[in-house]
Amino acid sequence: MSDLPLKGIKIIDFTHVQAGPACTQMLAWFGADVIKLERPGAGDVTRTQLRDIPNADALYFTMLNSNKRSLTLNTKAPEGKAVLEKLIRESDVMVENFGPGALDRMGFTWERIQELNPGMILASVKGFSEGHHYEDLKVYENVAQCAGGAASTTGWWKGENSVPTISAAALGDSNTGMHLAIGILTAIIGRQKTGKGQKVACSMQDAVLNLCRVKMRDQQRLEKVGYLEEYPQYPHEMEAFADKVTPRGGNAGGGGQPGWILKCKGWETDPNAYIYFTVQGHAWEPICDALGKPEWKTDPAYTTAKARQPHIDEIFATIEDFIKDKTKFEAVDIFRKFDIPCAPVLSMKELLRDESLRKSGSIVEVPHKERGSYFTIGSPIKFSAFKPSITGSPLLGEHSEQVLAELGYGAEQIAAMKAKEVI
Ligand SMILES: CC(C)(COP(=O)(O)OP(=O)(O)OC[C@H]1O[C@@H](n2cnc3c(N)ncnc32)[C@H](O)[C@@H]1OP(=O)(O)O)[C@@H](O)C(=O)NCCC(=O)NCCS
Repeated sequence: MSDLPLKGIKIIDFTHVQAGPACTQMLAWFGADVIKLERPGAGDVTRTQLRDIPNADALYFTMLNSNKRSLTLNTKAPEGKAVLEKLIRESDVMVENFGPGALDRMGFTWERIQELNPGMILASVKGFSEGHHYEDLKVYENVAQCAGGAASTTGWWKGENSVPTISAAALGDSNTGMHLAIGILTAIIGRQKTGKGQKVACSMQDAVLNLCRVKMRDQQRLEKVGYLEEYPQYPHEMEAFADKVTPRGGNAGGGGQPGWILKCKGWETDPNAYIYFTVQGHAWEPICDALGKPEWKTDPAYTTAKARQPHIDEIFATIEDFIKDKTKFEAVDIFRKFDIPCAPVLSMKELLRDESLRKSGSIVEVPHKERGSYFTIGSPIKFSAFKPSITGSPLLGEHSEQVLAELGYGAEQIAAMKAKEVI
């Protein structure tokens, strides 16, 4: 497909770090012309953070900014402001994730942006939503996980490790960017009907909370019923529910299906020699068959989910005993024949080399002018009509002259801006 679906949509990518760049990168994969606007000489802070190759853009940057063009611009200098004004007039969307008030202080209030381009969609990520009592706070990933309910509900509920726990998945950053992308596409469709742009905002707290929906469900159930029957504390540690605050549930299933992480062959030395096993209600008989426990099929102590819950530790121990001489891959190969929802715990090393992920384009190798090639995570969304092609990230200011020329600036004007370090 030569014309990607978002071809013709021009996006000013005034974002940095992860939340904003993750959003605009995805829109670039799907065909939008994404112009990354960066501070001259420095650029996005992630270009230099956690470098693995001296003086080359860090993977942190390259993995979040592929398929974009880079324009350096000092948007606090008058000439830089004039360029941004021109860009706003000619673009469809501007995405930003600066600290609260930064865009206003630069002179680009929502009112001013609308004056410049009534069709403009201004999309913002902030830590907290407008009007929130914490709206002035600057926020990074883990701060959002704490504020959005993920940390209080993740981890262990007893022992010395029973502290609120951060997920390694970017629930605060990339997840907020994905929410924002949905908002932007919605606003683009809205504009097709009204001709008008709008402000789209997504707070990191809200985006995390939106993924903690089942925990908010549990809080309300707990307040009504007094306990949570699918949690590992039930029924032997009922004191965990006494304060009516949703407790952390370790590796429990979280839905109607109990599940746990189970040891496989080699767990003593391999930190990832585990599988996740789910005791799906209607798969109970196949589970009994897989484990060679036909007597559990008719024993009233095991036939219903409610009856099984007091024995759930014993059930998981039986499964662990069954797989103790099997690798995680062998265990899954057995259970898949019985239609049991399960998977190996995969390390980053295994995922990076996974042939299926390479084949599907979920992990891709892309070229880079300074680094040579590197691996990145490709589009998790697959389309029948096209396959996003990941082209690598731009060098700092690589497209400054090209973008300025497209805006109508001549060579002399561009040289003058360079001399004054506006670009
Ligand atoms: C991520 C965050 C904590 C970083 O904070 P920070 O490093 O202090 O940077 P800020 O975003 O506040 O911006 C710093 C300044 O650079 C300025 N700046 C950015 N790009 C510029 C450019 N091209 N030219 C001139 N000035 C520029 C901003 O206007 C801002 O100026 P001011 O605050 O002095 O008025 C903050 O941006 C934030 O809270 N963002 C919202 C939530 C978010 O996205 N978090 C990160 C998710 S990965």
